[in-house]
Amino acid sequence: MRCRKCGAPAVINLRHHKLALCAEDFQTWFVDQTQRSIRKYEMFTHDDRILVAVSGGKDSLALWDVLLRLGYQADGLYIDLGIDGGLRYSEQSKAKALAFAGQHDQVRLMVVDIPGRYGESVPDVARRRRQQQRPCAICGLIKRHEMNRIALAEGYQVLATGHNLDDEVAVLFGNVLHWQVGYLQRQGPVLPADGEGLAQKVKPFCRFYERETAAYTLIRGLDYIYEECPFSLGATSLKHKETLTQLEHEAPGTKLHFYLSFLKAKRQGLLCPSEASAEMLHPCQVCGQPTIAPALCAFCRLWQS
Ligand code: AMP
Ligand code: FES
Ligand code: ZN
Repeated sequence: MRCRKCGAPAVINLRHHKLALCAEDFQTWFVDQTQRSIRKYEMFTHDDRILVAVSGGKDSLALWDVLLRLGYQADGLYIDLGIDGGLRYSEQSKAKALAFAGQHDQVRLMVVDIPGRYGESVPDVARRRRQQQRPCAICGLIKRHEMNRIALAEGYQVLATGHNLDDEVAVLFGNVLHWQVGYLQRQGPVLPADGEGLAQKVKPFCRFYERETAAYTLIRGLDYIYEECPFSLGATSLKHKETLTQLEHEAPGTKLHFYLSFLKAKRQGLLCPSEASAEMLHPCQVCGQPTIAPALCAFCRLWQS
């Protein structure tokens, strides 16, 4: 197999694009495609300050790397959830994020220490709330709240996460299976700021397959944490990923088509948010972030005994 751009031996074959590329041309393609997504979905410009949520995993480190190569003002945020699981998962992933930041001048990595700030780690909160087998929902809630809090407090216009196409279609599949209209309305490459407490959220890698972000990290020699979170084993989203990967195997491009058709259907008016759903939001009495709950948001209720 030869690179379609230069004829050198190819290292990757992008079957859905019918495009084989060598390492050098793949890197260039990957960076260009990221820029195209940023422009296409109007995510941000070079004037914006961007906060990249960095987990120490391959996607978010690749995202930070690409944004810096494209000349964006991108700082990092690592949220230490206090997850051990025998692997010292949080400690190791934090070390990867810090190592990346240490190799780049003039970038800032903020670290939020959840147990230090709130008195309990994610597994502690999950145990207290009797959800120790599946702390992922609580963990997701904490991450979303803290990302939003820091982005607003530190004056970042945009919060970027490393979600890739495989992540997005697995979530989409789950949301469609249960017709979770509210989640489907909010799913997409950009979730705009609301001007009243929600920062703009963007996913510049939403059109990349996981193997493409993995190939980019490998070619760039980025050091990331290989292990998955110990609580992710057996998660429903992983089962959805397996099902979708099987479909992709039989018909290359299925995942991309599923995602892009969903975005098109939304543009055509499917799932128009009702006025009532926007009006239901008001500031939480403790933290001020928007919530549909009567007094305290779900995050602040977590810490109430
Ligand atoms: P996940 O929810 O683990 O699939 O991660 C999705 C995205 O959320 C990652 O690509 C990161 O951008 C962000 N993220 C996940 N965990 C953390 C963390 N501990 N600190 C900061 N960002 C995170
Ligand atoms: Fe949150 Fe695994 S990263 S439970
Ligand atoms: Zn709150």
